[in-house]
Amino acid sequence: MSIISKDISKAVALLNAEEIVAIPTETVYGLAGNIYSEKAIASIFETKKRPFFNPLIVHIPSTEYLSNIVDHIPEKAKRLANAFWPGPITLVLKKKITIPDVITAGKDTVAVRVPNHPITLELLNQLDFPLAAPSANPFSSISPTTAEHVETYFKDAINMVLDGGACTSGIESTIIGFENDEPIIYRLGSTAIEDIEAIVGNIEIKNTKEVAPDAPGMLERHYAPKTKTILTDNISTIVNEYKGKRIGVITFKSEIDNTDIAVQIALSKTGNLSESASNLYDVLHQLDKMHLDVIIAEKLPDYGLGKSINDRLLRATK
Ligand code: TXA
Ligand code: MG
Repeated sequence: MSIISKDISKAVALLNAEEIVAIPTETVYGLAGNIYSEKAIASIFETKKRPFFNPLIVHIPSTEYLSNIVDHIPEKAKRLANAFWPGPITLVLKKKITIPDVITAGKDTVAVRVPNHPITLELLNQLDFPLAAPSANPFSSISPTTAEHVETYFKDAINMVLDGGACTSGIESTIIGFENDEPIIYRLGSTAIEDIEAIVGNIEIKNTKEVAPDAPGMLERHYAPKTKTILTDNISTIVNEYKGKRIGVITFKSEIDNTDIAVQIALSKTGNLSESASNLYDVLHQLDKMHLDVIIAEKLPDYGLGKSINDRLLRATK
């Protein structure tokens, strides 16, 4: 029997019983448990095969709830929360002493966000604790954007996927840390950097290699299909190099006229970056099932969500 269900009260009962449940968000599905339950948190790490040094994001029902989780809220963090929550921005702030160390991997900061999904907001409102939820995929594989992706990954290893349909944003939240109360981007994501700068001014992106110990979502290989993947500005040249192989191609918007390509998918026929983001992981999941020798992806315009998509595609090639 399928573990996929729309029954919020069933999810509430499981979470109250310290079980884990996969939940929908606007970005990707998360594998959720009570932040105060040692059993649930251990089960999240075990199910994902996630290393313990990699801290979790805490999901809360509202901006007002933030003061239960963190000790100090810099002025620019307040502005960002007011501008984007509920929505795909995660703030890394000084944690309250009551937040368990297993959530934060021993750090004195905690990552927190208010997800923008009606079903999960309803769920959070019915619980009397926040939910820790990493993306609901095995460590370093492609993140899930439908309930079916989650079921394929975990089958009977979890009791339930709360079905909220396909995720609308489609790539993970943008993570912002603070150094001396000034914001720094730890992970590019579903909120475009230009939109963030409109609220807090110029913002630095932390060098990805340097940041790896801080935000392991920035580990070099991540979000990766099993099939060898290449990111390029020039699809035709790479297709030529792989002539005779079974080639899959991901383009931004246009079709490529080349009979050496076995299958090609455009992320957005109209060249829309948000649509491209919401399709990205599903396209990777689809191509990864097709027994291809190589997936060749076209670099997107390097601004707005294009920058975040290029970041994910680059990690998929490592
Ligand atoms: O959109 C999202 O953020 C999704 C949905 C489910 O909310 N969640 C997600 O979680 O992407 P996860 O665990 O796959 O990625 C969380 C990232 C990791 O790279 C982790 O290292 C970073 O957040 N992180 C968590 N706590 C942190 C902290 N205290 N300092 C720095 N980075 C932190
Ligand atoms: Mg993840």
